[in-house]
Amino acid sequence: MHDEIPTVTLPSGIAVPALGLGTWKMGEIKNRANEEIDSLRLGIDLGMTLVDTAEMYGDGGAERVVGKALEDRRDEVFLVSKLYPWNASRAGTIAACESSLARLDTDRIDLYLLHWRGEYPLTETVAAFETLRSQGKIGAWGVSNFDVPDMEELFAVEGGSNCAANQVLYNLARRGIEHDLLPWCQTRGVAVMAYSPIEQGLLAHNPELIRIAKAYQATPAQLAVAFLLEREGVIAIPKSASLKRVRENRGAADIEISEEDMDALDLAFSPPTQKVPLEMI
Ligand SMILES: NC(=O)c1ccc[n+]([C@@H]2O[C@H](COP(=O)([O-])OP(=O)(O)OC[C@H]3O[C@@H](n4cnc5c(N)ncnc54)[C@H](OP(=O)(O)O)[C@@H]3O)[C@@H](O)[C@H]2O)c1
Repeated sequence: MHDEIPTVTLPSGIAVPALGLGTWKMGEIKNRANEEIDSLRLGIDLGMTLVDTAEMYGDGGAERVVGKALEDRRDEVFLVSKLYPWNASRAGTIAACESSLARLDTDRIDLYLLHWRGEYPLTETVAAFETLRSQGKIGAWGVSNFDVPDMEELFAVEGGSNCAANQVLYNLARRGIEHDLLPWCQTRGVAVMAYSPIEQGLLAHNPELIRIAKAYQATPAQLAVAFLLEREGVIAIPKSASLKRVRENRGAADIEISEEDMDALDLAFSPPTQKVPLEMI
């Protein structure tokens, strides 16, 4: 039996699981689609009912895979997708969203994010997001790869403080946001979606994590994800196309890290002592 997955409450009042499913690298190779669909469906069965995708992944292929995985169970899932910055003009945002909806085979995206900052003024993108929201095509909107100055600029734009989430690189090996961006978002109720929570698989081989995880009869990847789940307002979205590793990642929500081991993690993966510019993968 598993413990319940903790939730994060978005500004709209909707509670979403703090442990979801990533999809980068899915939809790239045709004969892997069934494995990818099965892994997403298993993750949903196990309660990881937040699915993160983007028009970029697999050049639309990941959204198609997600659409197939959700065919008969769309209502069980909180669906997140993202648009390219070069599509983020007022008209371009609407068009990109409509294309994503078609690939996802759904009539709404629950959370729609600007993938990273580009050339279009934020006023245009925010206005388009608000239009999509009023049309019911998206439930909420947010951003990705925005550091504190970007967030401040966004909040100064009309409607900008309606931003529900900021998806950023955050894991034990990349703790820079703990200095300023994470508290900035926590104070304002903006959810932080931690991408690459296992540092794209690399943390699974970290000797110190392997050592600490043993006491929990856990794997290093589970400990890396559990560390993120301890943080208020943080949603971790590990990606796996393997049934075994999806089960493993789900197990992260069953781990409660002791204070002593939190200290050991701080020694092995130092928290920031000064501003670290936001990194991006
Ligand atoms: N907004 C952005 O700019 C941005 C950037 C990067 C990622 N993302 C999102 O965040 C999601 C997660 O990030 P990510 O895919 O970069 O990295 P990740 O989730 O940290 O790691 C995924 C990699 O680790 C492997 N893996 C998964 N579970 C594992 C485990 N328990 N033990 C060992 N290896 C494991 C996966 O391989 P298998 O599939 O073979 O298990 C895959 O190669 C993405 O899929 C995407 O949805 C967003």
